Amino acid sequence: MRIDVVSLFPEFIAQCAAFGVTGRAIERGLLTLEGWNPRDHAEGNYRRVDDRPFGGGPGMVMLIDPLRACLREVRAADPRPARVVYMSPQGAPLTQRKARELAASDRLVLLCGRYEGVDERLLRAEVDEELSIGDYVLSGGELAAAVVVDTVARLQDGALNDAESAVQDSFEDGLLDCPHYTRPVAHALGDVPGVLLSGNHAEIARWRRMQQLGRTWSRRPDLIDERALSPADRKLLDA
Ligand code: ADE
Repeated sequence: MRIDVVSLFPEFIAQCAAFGVTGRAIERGLLTLEGWNPRDHAEGNYRRVDDRPFGGGPGMVMLIDPLRACLREVRAADPRPARVVYMSPQGAPLTQRKARELAASDRLVLLCGRYEGVDERLLRAEVDEELSIGDYVLSGGELAAAVVVDTVARLQDGALNDAESAVQDSFEDGLLDCPHYTRPVAHALGDVPGVLLSGNHAEIARWRRMQQLGRTWSRRPDLIDERALSPADRKLLDA
């Protein structure tokens, strides 16, 4: 898939491509990532990209025209239709389900705002959806776009070395992840739970599921939809 990021700081996004799973996905040809700067489409000596808000108030609002010209160039860079996402605290929450949905598209354009935001008319005309990475305010959409790039890159087929690990992750089945242990078995900080050394795969799976349910119950009860629990999960929770 292809992701284009429209940002006043495209170097920020270039960092995503430099290492880790995203870097590998790009190397393996699973993902193309490109940054675009609306300032390259701004007019005048100052290459202005923002102005004061009508109605008064603090901060600046990003101008329509540099963003529009930039998006036109971005769209023209690839014939496939692009899904344009504006990163904003007003957006719908980014969830693992949403990440899967985005990862299945051919082409994403992530639009990053700075200052107080972007002229609403540009958003209405060019943007398909708004996405938020959480109920807090960042000083720009770049970090949020980097989060989307990471979560979508690791969901590309072949991006992870162990194909299993994306399925086992937290949230893939709506629950938090279970605890993990590695060597040594005995340590001053504690021992590895015996069941993990038992070789009994059914017991290990049961223990992990119980840990997932217990952790989710105590840390994120909002994630547990009791009506959706299987009878087996319900039994584990009651145990
Ligand atoms: N831009 C500023 N804050 C943001 C947030 N919480 N999520 C996405 N984009 C943002």
